[in-house]
Amino acid sequence: MNRYHHRLNIPVTFQPEFPKNTNAAVLPYTKNQINKELINWLLNISVGIKHCEVFYLSPDSQSNHVIHLDGESFDDHVKLNFAYCETEELMNWFIPKENAILISKKTPIDTTYIETNEDQCILVHQAIIGQPSLVNVGQLHNISDVKSPRYCFSFVLSKLETNKRLTWDDAVEIFKDYIEKEHSNGI
Ligand SMILES: [Fe+2]
Repeated sequence: MNRYHHRLNIPVTFQPEFPKNTNAAVLPYTKNQINKELINWLLNISVGIKHCEVFYLSPDSQSNHVIHLDGESFDDHVKLNFAYCETEELMNWFIPKENAILISKKTPIDTTYIETNEDQCILVHQAIIGQPSLVNVGQLHNISDVKSPRYCFSFVLSKLETNKRLTWDDAVEIFKDYIEKEHSNGI
C-alpha cells in the first residue's frame, strides 16, 4: 500500500460552503462551517480537526502547482481532503533528489511550507482526490493543471487523546474500515 493517498468511503456527507466573491488561492475555513454530522462522526472515531483551509485553483492559475510540503520539515502527517472539480484533477507526490534545494516559505495565511523545483525531485505517486481522501502532506506534493475550477477543502486531523497531528500510520489504522481499494497509480 502506498504512503501518499487513500480514497475513503465514509458514512457521512460533507456539506461544503464554497467561498464567494474571491479568487484567493487559499482561504481559512472555520470549524463552524463544517457540518455537525461530519464533526461528530470524526469524534466517534477519536479524531479532531485541528485546522481547516480551502484551496482554489483556476485553469489559468500557477499558484497551487508549486511542489511543496506542508510544515517545516518532512514528516508523514495527513489531511482529510474533499476536492471538487468538474474535470480530472491530479495530486502528485515527489521525493527529493540528493542535495535538493528546499526553501522554507509562508502562505498568505501565515502557515509554513517548504518549496522545491521540479528538477530537484522525482515523481513517485499520482492520485485523483476524492470526497474525501486521506493525503500525506508531510511529503512533497502539488496539483497538476486543471481544466476547470477546483476547490479543495482540507482539514488537518488530530488524535483526540493527545491533540497531536494524525500521522499517516495513525490514519491508516483509524480509518482502516473506510479505505477504498486503490484508486491511485503508483508510478
Ligand atoms: Fe500542500
